[in-house]
Amino acid sequence: MGSDETSVISHDVRETSKPDRNLALEMVRVTEAAALAAARWVGRGEKEEADQAAVDAMRLLLDTVPMDGVVVIGEGEKDEAPMLYNGERIGDGSPPEVDIAVDPLEGTTLTARGMPSALAVIALAERGTMFDPGPCVYMEKLAGGPGIADLLSLDEPLTDVIRKVAERKEVDPTDVRVIMLDRPRHEEQVAAIREVGARIRFISDGDVSAALFAVSQGTGVDLLWGIGGTPEGVLSAAAIKCLGGELLGKLWPRDDEERQGAIDAGYDLDEVLNANRLVAGNDVFFAATGVTDGDLLQGVRYLDDGHATTESLVMRSRSGTVRTVQARHDRPKLREITGGRYG
Ligand code: FBP
Repeated sequence: MGSDETSVISHDVRETSKPDRNLALEMVRVTEAAALAAARWVGRGEKEEADQAAVDAMRLLLDTVPMDGVVVIGEGEKDEAPMLYNGERIGDGSPPEVDIAVDPLEGTTLTARGMPSALAVIALAERGTMFDPGPCVYMEKLAGGPGIADLLSLDEPLTDVIRKVAERKEVDPTDVRVIMLDRPRHEEQVAAIREVGARIRFISDGDVSAALFAVSQGTGVDLLWGIGGTPEGVLSAAAIKCLGGELLGKLWPRDDEERQGAIDAGYDLDEVLNANRLVAGNDVFFAATGVTDGDLLQGVRYLDDGHATTESLVMRSRSGTVRTVQARHDRPKLREITGGRYG
């Protein structure tokens, strides 16, 4: 091999192997801001106001990040959502080119009612790699940790998956725990799970937090199952690509009209979408900050001296680094800097 060739190869190796900018570390400021803004609305019964406060704060901080972003999962269509709408360009247009999925407030009702596990969430991945749910509001989801990822299936009955999980974990099916949204549409599956003897932990809202909980070690929960939001499915998949484990999803139209709309838009309603299909990128960044206290993260806390504290999860799939970031915020200073938008 000539010396020229050697230098080309070693250059390539350097280019692909060196550490680079971790956008998740910039994103944590964004989710902290959204959580701090939403936290002022905890327990006040006003979910729209809480959501809007989170959106405004998130947008304010996102504008400070040098990138060329497109919102793939946002607050909805442009006319109904003045900010962070699907298709909105974010950043100053400089590299990297990324897709963005946001849920400024995941758990609007949880926040309004002062209940656990509301989060501010964002995920970024290379441009063109995030699944666009289009008209599909709901998907059936099944998630589990790395040790049982290969056993998950949406084509087999859930009871069979539960039996296999029990076998792999060398426990009885009655020791398998499933977390799920408490919804009437789950009644049949609840009866089947009870039949096999497994346990269910119901949640009223917030299946992103629940999915992360299900794939994490030592939580006492083995699986997430349920029909929940498609955007939340994409966000959960982004997180699972960083944490390990698997999430499977299948689009779940609510009626014939929605089914036809999805088919006309080119969606295959029989396709089982795994985490790699929902977020195909290999460099995924994820950040979430607790709004209310939950299993996964502590919520925003207010100290007597005018400070507030936040706890966030900050992750990147390429490196596999998972950070928990605790921060103390000076509320009067933040209010001054942000023109009273949050703090
Ligand atoms: P919001 O934050 O938009 O209120 O969503 C909360 C949530 O519980 C999600 O976590 C979940 O995926 C979805 O709503 C379930 O939808 P629905 O309440 O319509 O069953």
